[in-house]
Amino acid sequence: MPVASQIAYVNGDFVSEDQAKISIFDRGFLFGDGIYEVTPVIDGRLVDRAAHMQRLKRSLGEIRLEPPVPIDDIDAIQEDVVRRNSVTEGRVYLQVSRGVAERDFPFPQDPKPSLIMFARQVPFLDTETSRRGIRVKTAPDLRWKRRDIKTVMLLASAMAKQEAIDAGFDDAWMVEDGHVTEGSSNNAYIVENGVVRTRHLSTDILPGCTRRALIALAAESDIVVEERPFSPDEAKAADEAFITSATNLVMPVVGIDDATVGDGTPGPITKRLRELYIMAAKAG
Ligand SMILES: Cc1ncc(COP(=O)(O)O)c(C=O)c1O
Repeated sequence: MPVASQIAYVNGDFVSEDQAKISIFDRGFLFGDGIYEVTPVIDGRLVDRAAHMQRLKRSLGEIRLEPPVPIDDIDAIQEDVVRRNSVTEGRVYLQVSRGVAERDFPFPQDPKPSLIMFARQVPFLDTETSRRGIRVKTAPDLRWKRRDIKTVMLLASAMAKQEAIDAGFDDAWMVEDGHVTEGSSNNAYIVENGVVRTRHLSTDILPGCTRRALIALAAESDIVVEERPFSPDEAKAADEAFITSATNLVMPVVGIDDATVGDGTPGPITKRLRELYIMAAKAG
């Protein structure tokens, strides 16, 4: 919901969120023709910002959309949005769409992309959920075949998450061809005999910025990460499981369907990786 006291960025202007408006003819609304990013904010600073800007650039390239302002400017505006909203711990969202055009499937000849941003203060470093862990429900992966692009077409993910919540779980782990692809809005991991496993990068999953940072941090701490798919059964029998995302950082998974993972509490490697990630983020 828009918050009047909060400042959003809309196509060059900083406006209160209740005044922030986009046309009904925006292709982001009509076709889901747009890209987004979510960057964590810790101690008022954007975390993994270079990785998020690099992924934004790549996603835009994949859908043949030029950003309305250079990527470096987008990065600077995001920082401004964070500052204007006094966000110290939370996240900043940005969305670039192909803008307003007559409703027609082909891309407009001379697109005027829309760029919007907003920020939220959400304490997420020390939460009850991160201490306890979450339970996930497996569900068929009904998304399109270019999940490496961070598009705003999120309906299949929203449906999977809603169904998981309706069934009493916290999130969904999506499954295709007998293997877990990823969570509804996060990357999925298991830990077996001290080895962390996560699906390799391909068009099947989003290349998470948190995933990328975590793999680097694990290597520095001699924690082995194997990038290969795993099945729901492997996950249920694993010692530990967790997810990563800009909004959850490293979040323990303690239950999958009706199975308890490990002893049902966050595992030591998961906890260590969460600490490492937060320490690195705070160190800037
Ligand atoms: C489908 C999907 N996978 C993975 C991620 C995690 O990416 P990141 O760590 O960059 O937030 C997200 C984040 O929104 C996502 O939507």
